[in-house]
Amino acid sequence: MATVTVQSYIDKLADCFRQSDLCYGHGTDNPFDEAVYLVYGALALSFDADANSPGHMLTGSELCRLDELVEARLEQRIPVGYLVGKAWFAGHQFLCDPRALIPRSPIAELIDSKFQPLLKRAPTRVLDLCAGGGCIGISCALRFPGCHVDLAELCADACELAAANVALYKLSPRVSVLRSDLFSALTETYDLIISNPPYVSRQEIAALPEEYGHEPELGLLSEDGGLALPLQILREAADFLSADGVLILEVGYSRAQLSTRLKTVPLGWLEFARGGEGVLALTRNQLQQYDRLFN
Ligand SMILES: C[S@@+](CC[C@H](N)C(=O)[O-])C[C@H]1O[C@@H](n2cnc3c(N)ncnc32)[C@H](O)[C@@H]1O
Repeated sequence: MATVTVQSYIDKLADCFRQSDLCYGHGTDNPFDEAVYLVYGALALSFDADANSPGHMLTGSELCRLDELVEARLEQRIPVGYLVGKAWFAGHQFLCDPRALIPRSPIAELIDSKFQPLLKRAPTRVLDLCAGGGCIGISCALRFPGCHVDLAELCADACELAAANVALYKLSPRVSVLRSDLFSALTETYDLIISNPPYVSRQEIAALPEEYGHEPELGLLSEDGGLALPLQILREAADFLSADGVLILEVGYSRAQLSTRLKTVPLGWLEFARGGEGVLALTRNQLQQYDRLFN
């Protein structure tokens, strides 16, 4: 039997993905990276430059396992993160399963740069609102070793996944998971609130590629053309921010709609070197100033 290395399997798989009409966007944006994610993720290989992962010769059972996952990716359109049970975000690996969306927010880039120049000082308390599996808040805790982080999430299953990720990084009690409908169960004040809430309208959900159908609808759907939850966050966030606190809010491609709705508000859209859009930053003062327009 011809020998198959990790590298040759990935090259063939990338070709196969190129000829398919798969949808990317759950952590990768091209067939080659998708193939690498599947193979390295499934076999728990090291990305370390010193490791001989590309030259590793695949065993018969590894080949069978990979072929099964490839079939599930192609036939059932299951995103790779759910197939391999892990996802990378802001340079960290997280447990990933259908209890929460697969991490992919451009906010990772802001965490890498410690939110410069948006923050005047390192935050002492951070809120990740609509936390899902907790990737944003946990990455903040790892980036700011002195700060406390609350992960607030409505879905009990997603809270369990977030708790498992907190345990993975041994961050309890510095990082807490709180079951909360937006701010309803929260009592603290935060220097930084980051939220990647659901912002997809009912109409848009129906038109999304099959891959998104494997993710929980609660993580995607927001009424009022996608703006109901983002607007509620804009209305309530000031009450939970410290005097120089900042809200970072992702609304993705609902950016145009929000800009139209809030024409006179300087929404502070952020730019990303590594791709992504639809993330805004507003200070507590700005949120208070424009409060009446968020209704
Ligand atoms: C777009 S996902 C973001 C998950 C994670 N923060 C990330 O960036 O990958 C939105 C999350 O908000 C949660 N959610 C939906 N409605 C909520 C609400 N009213 N209060 C709190 N969380 C909510 C969903 O369960 C889902 O986990």
